Amino acid sequence: MTPQFRTVAVIGLGTMGAGIVEVFAKAGLQVYAVDGSDELAQRGRGFVTTSLGRAVSKGKLEQTAADEVLGRITFTSELTDLADADLVIEAVPEKLEIKQSIFSRLDEIVSADAVLASNTSSLSLTRIAAGTKHPRRVVGMHFFNPAPVLALVEVITTLLVSQEVVDGVRDLAIRLGKKPVVVGDRAGFVANALLITYLARAIRLYENGRVSREDLDNAGRIGIGLPMGPLTLSDLIGLDVVKEVCDVLYAATKRPSDAPPALLTNLVTAGRLGRKTGHGFYEYDKPGSGTVA
Ligand code: 3HC
Repeated sequence: MTPQFRTVAVIGLGTMGAGIVEVFAKAGLQVYAVDGSDELAQRGRGFVTTSLGRAVSKGKLEQTAADEVLGRITFTSELTDLADADLVIEAVPEKLEIKQSIFSRLDEIVSADAVLASNTSSLSLTRIAAGTKHPRRVVGMHFFNPAPVLALVEVITTLLVSQEVVDGVRDLAIRLGKKPVVVGDRAGFVANALLITYLARAIRLYENGRVSREDLDNAGRIGIGLPMGPLTLSDLIGLDVVKEVCDVLYAATKRPSDAPPALLTNLVTAGRLGRKTGHGFYEYDKPGSGTVA
């Protein structure tokens, strides 16, 4: 039977997780928003409150509607609170052991019918699923940054997942106002396999001194018609995430053009991860800001 979703949970309240919480709550679902400590859960509440406040100040949302959205969200640091969740989606850092350990704990907490979804950008969904008790209920639900704005959701299948779960998650994405695409489990899935290859190529052009960062970004934005130039977009996604996807693509293809460019690796090693740390290819006025200093 196709699952029905009323109560969902999002684990990991960074940029992506907090955005996903907002998407679910705006669509009328009850949401548990979970992070590893009360402090992190409160930081997540801050991200969601700020985003809703921005919409209110722009006249896109009534204050009462924003309050209702926030009222549907329970912020917590306890996985055991999720016993009645129909769907849990994890958006924690890209470490297989962390994701597998969360899903193993959830196997003991949620009902046998609940769906476990991963927002992974780069890891093999099959490996995540194979480490769980019920891999038939494990699926990918891959949102794009900023999650409240971008419509695409990749629903990622494995050889192990049931068709009912895939259909249910695809229908849920439509209910959220998103455009789902169903894709198989392969390195970079589909969107990142296309996008990150392009970003790596652009970073190499910059690294080789062929072009300034501003001219490169203008070429991508104005010439190719994308909303952002490749360096600005890399800073938005997070340079650590871009590198992780490069690593996964390179491991799968062994093509030198898929390997992370040296400059990208050096920026990540230096802790310059893009907007979230306030430095990347550009410098920002403060961490988390999109305003170039
Ligand atoms: N949260 C919520 N809303 C946001 C937001 C955020 N972080 N950032 C922008 N918005 C909203 C704004 O409030 C505005 O809404 P409105 O039209 O209702 O007023 C709307 O988005 C447009 O924003 P702005 O006018 O401030 O700015 P832009 O028109 O320049 O759009 C953008 C900003 C939506 C980020 C646009 O530049 C864009 O789409 N860029 C490309 C992003 C992209 O390609 N993301 C995919 C990355 S790949 C990925 O995430 C996968 C991962 O696995 C790596």
